[in-house]
Amino acid sequence: MMLTCPICTAALSAVDNGVVCPAGHRFDRARQGYLNLLPVQHKNSRDPGDNQAMVEARRDFLNAGHYAPVAKRLAELAAERAPARWLDIGCGEGYYTAQIAAALPDADGYALDISREAIKRACRRDPKITWLIASMARVPLPDDSCQFLASVFSPLDWHEARRLLSPGGGLMRVGPTSEHLMELRERLYDEVREYVDDKHLMQVPADMHLQHSETLRFTLSLVDAQARANLLAMTPHGWRASAERRANVIEQPEPFEVTVSMRYDYFVLQ
Ligand SMILES: C[S@@+](CC[C@H](N)C(=O)[O-])C[C@H]1O[C@@H](n2cnc3c(N)ncnc32)[C@H](O)[C@@H]1O
Ligand SMILES: [Zn+2]
Repeated sequence: MMLTCPICTAALSAVDNGVVCPAGHRFDRARQGYLNLLPVQHKNSRDPGDNQAMVEARRDFLNAGHYAPVAKRLAELAAERAPARWLDIGCGEGYYTAQIAAALPDADGYALDISREAIKRACRRDPKITWLIASMARVPLPDDSCQFLASVFSPLDWHEARRLLSPGGGLMRVGPTSEHLMELRERLYDEVREYVDDKHLMQVPADMHLQHSETLRFTLSLVDAQARANLLAMTPHGWRASAERRANVIEQPEPFEVTVSMRYDYFVLQ
């Protein structure tokens, strides 16, 4: 087994209903198959990460296929890199993770999220992936163990990501550009805050370099109210904007046309 103890970093081995390290730190395997490698002392709150409502809204929106081109491109980019072992950091309910796995049938796949609600649902998508409740600040995998990391719409601990990569391996970061959901933001706020979409470039460790960058852009036509409600609920706009403006977007009679615009940045460890 490849996993390491989140408390002392020693190797974990499988035992009945879970895993244990030589120092006796024990972690359970849930009935659904995932491992909980988040010790209480590493939790900042009782239920860290995205809550059930956000996870379910995102799952329903993504399962309806609205962002299918985003996942398809990510899976292609992963397949081109042909890693032996890969990890999706902040995988949420696993929509993108499962498509990466399908594109890399022979690779050893891992996915983690700090949210139990997310991992509980994600692990149903593909039993071959090792699904973990864990913190991206203390990833329970050894140094130099991964050739490909994915970070999709998630916060990221760059130094931890760097530690996990083997030389020549890389991190694919997918995030919104400043145009993403512009029409929605214009409807929700009097002033649309200018969003800088390359701030993350400042945080990249010195020995990692940007090898590839591309943007994927398309228009989405959200015909049903449920899809618009889910989109709001899965983004910070769901609670930041006023209730009246949100209702206005959800209940409008015409389809809602919105720009989806994502950037893919691939950073390689030298
Ligand atoms: C916007 S969601 C993106 C989920 C998924 N990648 C997707 O695009 O569908 C961000 C995710 O990061 C997770 N997250 C936040 N802080 C985290 C941490 N410290 N460690 C691991 N996951 C974290 C949240 O629980 C949430 O599922
Ligand atoms: Zn231990």
